[in-house]
Amino acid sequence: MSTALITGASSGIGTAFAERLAAEGHDLVLVARTKDRLDAIAARLRAAHGIAVDVIPQDLSLPGAAAAITERLTRPVDLLVNNAGFGTSGRFEDIDADAEHRMLMVNVVALVDLTHALLPGMLERGHGGVINIASTAGFQPSPYFASYAATKTFVLNFSLALWAEYEKRGVRVLAVCPGPTETAFFDGMSASASSIGGKVGTPEEIATLALGAYDRNSGYVVAKGSSNFAMAHLTPRRPRRFVTRVSRGMTAKMAGVNPSA
Ligand SMILES: NC(=O)c1ccc[n+]([C@@H]2O[C@H](COP(=O)([O-])OP(=O)(O)OC[C@H]3O[C@@H](n4cnc5c(N)ncnc54)[C@H](OP(=O)(O)O)[C@@H]3O)[C@@H](O)[C@H]2O)c1
Repeated sequence: MSTALITGASSGIGTAFAERLAAEGHDLVLVARTKDRLDAIAARLRAAHGIAVDVIPQDLSLPGAAAAITERLTRPVDLLVNNAGFGTSGRFEDIDADAEHRMLMVNVVALVDLTHALLPGMLERGHGGVINIASTAGFQPSPYFASYAATKTFVLNFSLALWAEYEKRGVRVLAVCPGPTETAFFDGMSASASSIGGKVGTPEEIATLALGAYDRNSGYVVAKGSSNFAMAHLTPRRPRRFVTRVSRGMTAKMAGVNPSA
């Protein structure tokens, strides 16, 4: 029996990972801020699959969040799913600096800290892995989502670098790049997943795609759909200023900004 720790398990893609991993018989550790939602998911998965599920309510934007989680672990973690994340959007000068700081803490700092805390144990035991949720936004600069997209570029490149470091040492690392996915991610933004255009995925599709790629130790995986393919595999080969201006045409709509005004 192995144990998977999933951050951001209270909603969307994180809950889909919890459901898929529970169905495969893994014990779970569920992390997010909203304890009552985690408790409800845990109760449902224990009853349906007879697995052990621990709930650790934790705000990942706080300094020392990873240590606070690992102190509360009661068993070794074989699979870490760094999924928790959120985005800020709008003109950079209008974005609340504190919100942006919290986003960097959740999307980048907590992800690296948890990897530091748990990967060495996996190496010692000779097996295990880390799945990090990046985004197709990580393949190019995204005006009006400047910091969010940059956090996902970090997650993508960080994960691929570790994939290469540990490929022959028994530990797998995977970056997952969802495109627009129907979750609570867009709540509070002027856009919805469908307003971006192209295929809108479900959280279940992303979890299934990710776990298949993890089994194959693929390094990274991109959500299905032609616009996701273009963002991941075509735009990075074009001149960077051109790509950024094309990207601005899409992301201005998402952020509700008129780039000319
Ligand atoms: N949906 C998309 O279109 C899309 C596309 C590309 C990538 N992604 C990425 O997919 C991942 C999952 O997002 P989602 O789409 O499933 O959105 P979601 O439904 O909003 O879920 C986000 C999860 O992150 C947790 N979270 C947020 N802030 C947190 C904090 N400070 N501390 C602890 N947990 C926190 C939330 O839990 P609490 O609120 O309970 O803390 C929630 O469980 C994110 O990394 C996102 O960037 C999403």
